[in-house]
Amino acid sequence: MIITVCLNPAVDKMVTVDCFVPGETNRVLSVRRDPGGKAINVAKMVRRLGGDTLALGIVGGENGAYIRSQLSEMGIPHDFVTREEPTRTNYKIADKRQRSTTELNEPGYPITEQQLEKVWKSISAHVRPGDTVVLAGTNPPGVADDTLARWIEKLNAMQAVTVLDTSGTPLKLGIAAKPRIIKPNMAELSELFGEQIHYLRDAIAAAKQIVQGGVERVIVSLGGDGAIFATKEGVLRGHGVDVPVCSTVGCGDVMLASLLYDLQRETSWEETARRAIATGTANATCSGTEPPTVEQIEEFLDRVQIERL
Ligand SMILES: Nc1ncnc2c1ncn2[C@@H]1O[C@H](COP(=O)(O)OP(=O)(O)OP(=O)(O)O)[C@@H](O)[C@H]1O
Ligand SMILES: [Mg+2]
Repeated sequence: MIITVCLNPAVDKMVTVDCFVPGETNRVLSVRRDPGGKAINVAKMVRRLGGDTLALGIVGGENGAYIRSQLSEMGIPHDFVTREEPTRTNYKIADKRQRSTTELNEPGYPITEQQLEKVWKSISAHVRPGDTVVLAGTNPPGVADDTLARWIEKLNAMQAVTVLDTSGTPLKLGIAAKPRIIKPNMAELSELFGEQIHYLRDAIAAAKQIVQGGVERVIVSLGGDGAIFATKEGVLRGHGVDVPVCSTVGCGDVMLASLLYDLQRETSWEETARRAIATGTANATCSGTEPPTVEQIEEFLDRVQIERL
């Protein structure tokens, strides 16, 4: 089972315009609302692949009710803690002509100590040894930087496969608690090391250093350039696939979902890496509101090159 924990879910409201001009009146061509937030995106992709998943976290207000009903409709089991403060809305402006997406993300209401404790109780009630637990997304206000690190320690002791996909200090402290898997992008990796990482060789060195520190699998995603997959056995380089890009929103989330799904099925590491890149690639060609289909992913499998470094 892949359990996803979202402390700061969102309803993603995407408006499509022909050509977005800041400071002007822009005519909206279409609007759609989707349950969002990184961990929820992971749950949606795992479900698409046919995996067992459970979405946990905290929601509130009308947006919270909407997230619940949509996940139920998608066949994604969930058990969120409810609070009064409404779940945030994140706005996405999709520009058809430039094929770009502008994001306006609300911070979300602060979480209280008691609410956080309720979320932890719900996690610990659901997790069984061998479950994968994904802690993903930025912390909302009120959550201490070391919260995820403390949860990782406890979840490791419960024999869960812990996965951390966040940024800044929570990522730094979280890594010290030795999650089994992390998936930073280059910006997150650079922030972690306190210097701008530009070159592949530096990203590989950084990933190896984190592996030596006790994280079993470090995946550094490189956007259109693919990703590196570091373990103590060595490093795989997955080359990016050149595709017409529609939206790169959530590419990392679906890539992570694919990787975790394949690891649970005991797919070989090389094949897991190939499928993860194909999933990210397929997502880049989609509109960014829905995860890619299995057919769309399979279209790219043959075009992904995996190289052992
Ligand atoms: N422009 C692109 N062209 C082709 N493939 C892409 C592109 N952007 C992303 N991908 C694929 O998706 C994977 C993950 O993307 P990326 O590195 O952007 O993750 P991320 O920054 O964590 O994204 P997010 O956090 O928004 O989900 C890449 O390794 C690559 O396989
Ligand atoms: Mg990411």
